[in-house]
Amino acid sequence: MSQLKSVKELDVKGKRVLVRVDYNVPMEKGVVTDDTRVRCSLPTLTHLIQNGAKIILVSHLGRPKGAPNPKYSLAPVAQHLSQLLKKPVAFAPDCVGALAETAVKNLREGDVVLLENLRFHPEEEKNDPGFSKSLAGLADLFVQDAFGAVHRAHASTAGVAKLLPRAAGFLLLKELEFLGRVKDNPTKPFLAIVGGAKVSDKIEVLEKLLAKVDTLVIGGAMAYTFLKSQGASTGKSLVEADKVDTAAALLKAAAAKGVKVILPKDHLVVTAIDDPASASETKGTDISGDWIGVDIGPQSIENLVQPILSAKTIFWNGPMGIFEVDRYARGTREVAKRAAEAATKGATVVVGGGDSVAAVQSTGLADKISHISTGGGASLEFLEGKELPGVTALQ
Ligand code: 3PG
Repeated sequence: MSQLKSVKELDVKGKRVLVRVDYNVPMEKGVVTDDTRVRCSLPTLTHLIQNGAKIILVSHLGRPKGAPNPKYSLAPVAQHLSQLLKKPVAFAPDCVGALAETAVKNLREGDVVLLENLRFHPEEEKNDPGFSKSLAGLADLFVQDAFGAVHRAHASTAGVAKLLPRAAGFLLLKELEFLGRVKDNPTKPFLAIVGGAKVSDKIEVLEKLLAKVDTLVIGGAMAYTFLKSQGASTGKSLVEADKVDTAAALLKAAAAKGVKVILPKDHLVVTAIDDPASASETKGTDISGDWIGVDIGPQSIENLVQPILSAKTIFWNGPMGIFEVDRYARGTREVAKRAAEAATKGATVVVGGGDSVAAVQSTGLADKISHISTGGGASLEFLEGKELPGVTALQ
């Protein structure tokens, strides 16, 4: 992505710089519960502050469907950011119009304002030219640093970028560098670990990865659809009946390409998802009767150790089980630990997708991983080889 200009190359002193960040962060009762995305934006913000820019931050939060909704207000994020930056961060209750304009006029060099949720206006997701113009009217320069949102062709990602001198922020550049390495130039052996609930969400990336990887680990509920396609019993586990043939075709394609596919050999099962006390381990691949698979079992965990530790490139997206429930989190946590160990030994380890990122964070090993992607959908679409409109608009 060398053709992207870096924020470092912009002369920002005294200039109003509109920065698109992805502060779509989980919140509970007005408190940010995972601030990874906010922290990851700090290098760009610190650079702009130190170089005397007037910084105007814009972001979306959730999917408020084009109307103001206090539940999706970015005000708590402004407070949180202020703590991280150790300086005041102003907040404007609208991202366009008089309220935004006044907030921007009040900025001095090095000041930061966060504008209210872009998606309170339906024009944002429609990439409306008038809305893009209003956003551009607030600033002299544009910096794109919202990697998590560049797969969207919205006004703040695609539209506005074309109207101002523009550059990529440090987070966006880092994401493209690491994910680009996985996509185009992985050092072998290359291992991909793909989990999560649905085959349908991941099929395109699985197909693309087959052309690159030496080994593919499939975990999470999507593994049950693959096991079903091999004739295994899956009990009452989540299976996408209409994707069983797709799974079979993928396994066939993997065999034809010489890619080793590792599926779970045993499982943690329960009689009801909300009854962790009923948890028990299967003796083999089959899940009988009314049992429901919720995590990979001990043998499956053991089977992953050697492939993970011998890989030189690892891409991981999606948990091995319902890791939000502590009792069902072992498989995902063990993968996180081993992936961190592999990174410590020199492998490039890239983790993407909200759940697997949260799993790595929960083990306290995040700083051992080579790169934790802030984009779930965006990282998958990038690896699938799809165009990212927010990146194209910068070129
Ligand atoms: C994400 O969380 O993946 C990004 O912030 C994009 O959000 P969206 O899927 O609502 O566009």
